[in-house]
Amino acid sequence: MSFDRLSLEGKVAVVTGAAKGMGGEHVRTMTDRGARVLAVDLDRDALDMLVADIGAAAVAHVADVADLEQWEDVRDRALKLGGELSILVNNAGVVSHTRISQTTKAGWDRVIDVNLKGTWLGMKVLAPVMREAGGGSIINVSSAAGLDQHPDPAYTASKWGVRGLTKTAAQELGPWGIRVNSIHPGYIDTPMNDFASEELTGAMLSMLPISRPGQPQDAAELVAFLASDAAGFITGSEIAIDGGWTSGAQAFEARRFR
Ligand SMILES: NC(=O)c1ccc[n+]([C@@H]2O[C@H](COP(=O)([O-])OP(=O)(O)OC[C@H]3O[C@@H](n4cnc5c(N)ncnc54)[C@H](O)[C@@H]3O)[C@@H](O)[C@H]2O)c1
Repeated sequence: MSFDRLSLEGKVAVVTGAAKGMGGEHVRTMTDRGARVLAVDLDRDALDMLVADIGAAAVAHVADVADLEQWEDVRDRALKLGGELSILVNNAGVVSHTRISQTTKAGWDRVIDVNLKGTWLGMKVLAPVMREAGGGSIINVSSAAGLDQHPDPAYTASKWGVRGLTKTAAQELGPWGIRVNSIHPGYIDTPMNDFASEELTGAMLSMLPISRPGQPQDAAELVAFLASDAAGFITGSEIAIDGGWTSGAQAFEARRFR
């Protein structure tokens, strides 16, 4: 395979949840590989800092992914970047850290609206434009929680939803030349995990075959690959990037007695 198939030169990408954590790293990695990126987030200050650091290849756009009209603005803004809009990374996500009996209706709705409805809206609004550009690649950021579970019930349901929605989209959009895959990060060192105590982090990492926190760059390398022509035969797939967490964390207990 020639290195050129990994290049994103001439492509335009939309990345949501782009201001911080993994999203910021997706923007950096894709612009490094030649893409122009519309970086979408609610956090204007963090977005402005990111694009100031990257330069002209990244453009900031404030929007809430849970809102249809704001997605239409995202589409219109992305089309003004020039080039072919051929990459969408549905990365924005929230978690509420409540249990079944404590979760409020509003709390449930917000997690589902951002994580699941936002992913659908992004595909609904941008897939027709990507079709006109000749096709492309959509990467939906689910979670290891979309392969097993998370203590937050709405988070688990939203991430299983993203995984299933990805299969539907892969079937429907394949004939338009659009590949759709979900990625399933495990523990990644981002602001989303700032809540975690040292004990919790230590316990989780000790159960991993690769016993370190994932870094945003680990996920960004996978996303940039899936966005590129080098991944041209991959669609409808679910790819764990979790240091082995979902390969059998329970085996850790058994290993201790071997
Ligand atoms: N960090 C992890 O361990 C981990 C593990 C598995 C999956 N994930 C998923 O990866 C994705 C990125 O996570 P992260 O850890 O980088 O999170 P993060 O909290 O560090 O960053 C998320 C970004 O999304 C933005 N955002 C939130 N709601 C939004 C909305 N409605 N519209 C637009 N932007 C919005 C936030 O402002 C923030 O900049 C999320 O979907 C998350 O669920 C994270």
